[in-house]
Amino acid sequence: MRTPIIAGNWKMYKTMPEAVEACRRLEEMVEDSAAEVVVCAPFTTLSALSALGLAKVKIGAQNMYFAEEGAFTGEVSPLMLTDVGVQYVIIGHSERREIFGETDELVNKKVRAALEHELTPILCVGETLEQRKDGQTETLVDGQIRLAFSGVAPEAAPTVVVAYEPIWAIGTGETATAEQAEEVIATIRATLTQLYGAEIAEAIRIQYGGSVKPANISELMAKPNIDGALVGGASLKPEDFAAIVRY
Ligand code: PGA
Repeated sequence: MRTPIIAGNWKMYKTMPEAVEACRRLEEMVEDSAAEVVVCAPFTTLSALSALGLAKVKIGAQNMYFAEEGAFTGEVSPLMLTDVGVQYVIIGHSERREIFGETDELVNKKVRAALEHELTPILCVGETLEQRKDGQTETLVDGQIRLAFSGVAPEAAPTVVVAYEPIWAIGTGETATAEQAEEVIATIRATLTQLYGAEIAEAIRIQYGGSVKPANISELMAKPNIDGALVGGASLKPEDFAAIVRY
């Protein structure tokens, strides 16, 4: 049985006091939930959030560089994240790929570096609207998965959380239907089965992300291959995020 994992992606929102307040309130509301709960917060808030020592709400970053240290102005390393108690890190979010030019090769280096430092990578993949219209979704996502997992040992693979996020559904209010999400997520599991065999592929958790709200989470979670959600906008309000966690 895969434990459901609901992660919030706060993006570039919330100052430190706002972040601390939101995590405290969230913890109270989700304490007894069966799902694993993660908040991926801005770098500047991570140290304070992890110092709260919350039992239920785990802390994640939204990005990192793959090297441990070096002359990489402006970057944050896996070592720096574990040093402040961070346990998860989003890798290859479509905003990183589109706005900051991250390639599949860089994403792969980051996934491997996260695993080496015992961080749980939340690896994002997904297609644009054009690619979907062209019927390229499955080939594209299959390629993203193969490249991201390249060099990832079978023992480490089940630690990776995959987030399928169709780019056209991010921040647009337009959610993929549960059927559309399940369809692509099932093909992701098929790719993982080809790479690692059925037992390992069955152990890997795959989230859906893109305009997830309290109103659509239950339908998504009812699908056999959907193991959780990566939630942007709706994770900013603790009440909404808690309602999603308690789907
Ligand atoms: P959204 O963002 O929930 O606001 O669509 C999801 C994401 O970017 O991870």
